Amino acid sequence: MRFHLITLFPEFFESPLGCGLLSKGVEKGLLEFNRVNPRDFTTDAHRTVDDRPYGGGPGMVMMCDPLEKALKSLPANTRMLLMSPRGKPFTQAMARELAKEDEVAVVCGRYEGVDERLLSLFPLEPVCVGDFVLNGGEAGALCLVEAVSRLVPGFMGHEDSALEESFSQGLLEYPHYTRPEVYKDIKVPEILTSGDHAKIAKWRKEMALVKTLEARPEMLGHAAITEKDADFLRERPGFKLSRNLYPVLIHYPVLNKHGETVAVSLTNLDVHDIARVSRTFGLGGYFIATPLKDQRLLLKRLLTHWLDGPGKEANPDRTEALSVVRVRTGLDEIREEIEAKTGVAPRLVAATASGAGTMGMSKVREWLTDSPVLLVMGTGSGLAPEIMEQAHGVLRPIRFLGAYNHLSVRSAAAVLVDRVLGDWY
Ligand SMILES: C[S@@+](CC[C@H](N)C(=O)[O-])C[C@H]1O[C@@H](n2cnc3c(N)ncnc32)[C@H](O)[C@@H]1O
Repeated sequence: MRFHLITLFPEFFESPLGCGLLSKGVEKGLLEFNRVNPRDFTTDAHRTVDDRPYGGGPGMVMMCDPLEKALKSLPANTRMLLMSPRGKPFTQAMARELAKEDEVAVVCGRYEGVDERLLSLFPLEPVCVGDFVLNGGEAGALCLVEAVSRLVPGFMGHEDSALEESFSQGLLEYPHYTRPEVYKDIKVPEILTSGDHAKIAKWRKEMALVKTLEARPEMLGHAAITEKDADFLRERPGFKLSRNLYPVLIHYPVLNKHGETVAVSLTNLDVHDIARVSRTFGLGGYFIATPLKDQRLLLKRLLTHWLDGPGKEANPDRTEALSVVRVRTGLDEIREEIEAKTGVAPRLVAATASGAGTMGMSKVREWLTDSPVLLVMGTGSGLAPEIMEQAHGVLRPIRFLGAYNHLSVRSAAAVLVDRVLGDWY
């Protein structure tokens, strides 16, 4: 496999390509590195490769001409990549795919990047190595080269390593230990010294699941997980975030169609469906707030039917869901109750279908790590201004780019809870 590294700093690669497995790969004839400097394709006395950006602004831009000539000097079957923060995220799957190529060119940008027209002239695939900005493409290209090279058959010596590693099975890898068996009073997990290979394999799989759950829970949504794996994970204390989240359904003060502040009657479907969402996602509880006494009494009667009446026998699953419902007068009462229970004042996140919100889901997830969060939703035409004013954040509406976003509050609750937790399991 041959890499063509298009770079203004060919010397950048000297040491990393000259040591360890990469240099062995070259010695074995598995890899070849061709460093191409666009400066060698210039014709002026200063060997100019960059110029000022059209439209003004800071920095310089790499010119088309030297890069075009550099790329044209490569074999016709070369797969062409461009290092760019605007590129497709580089992944293990992409590394596997690239390892099948014979010729791969990696264009390393410098300054503000390359003249955009280069992408119209060549089938360049922009690739990004992470959501951060580097000085140039060389460090990213090196990551790509290492990740791809180690998948070239014969490179690693023992091909199993690549199969067991992080990302290969859609999971992060299990932890490793080596001698001595006890270091500073910390013992190696006993199972690893037991000699029982089946048990060790089971432990390693379980640890891979745990590490993934802890560090990258969203990966579990795509990983190949068996029923047994799911049973094992279910026993783990990984659901803390969800326990900090409490949906709150406000029936007063909310707006009607004319923008007037009103009280809205209970909706049986909202009681049931948001309770089912809350139970399914393991939320801390589901608060239904109405200051109207008769409405609270009605709701309590309804709940009694399911928690302690004929409904319990007919459908115990529903009993379990509805047991998370708490009937309260309003937001103040709920806030005080959560603070008394957890010792931490809850943060209020309002959900609205209007364009008022700007808060993203990851911020709510961050809040959930250290405080309870009330996900406050309105009935009628939405929350009244006096509730919105109390919110610490207002969520961006679901489908905020669409022309129509009038979901029922129970549907919105399901979508929001799933997005806020973003854990996929
Ligand atoms: C200073 S950066 C240019 C950043 C550019 N002005 C922007 O904001 O997107 C210079 C070059 O470094 C490389 N680079 C920087 N960060 C990168 C990343 N995360 N992934 C891949 N390449 C990157 C690209 O080749 C880029 O053209």
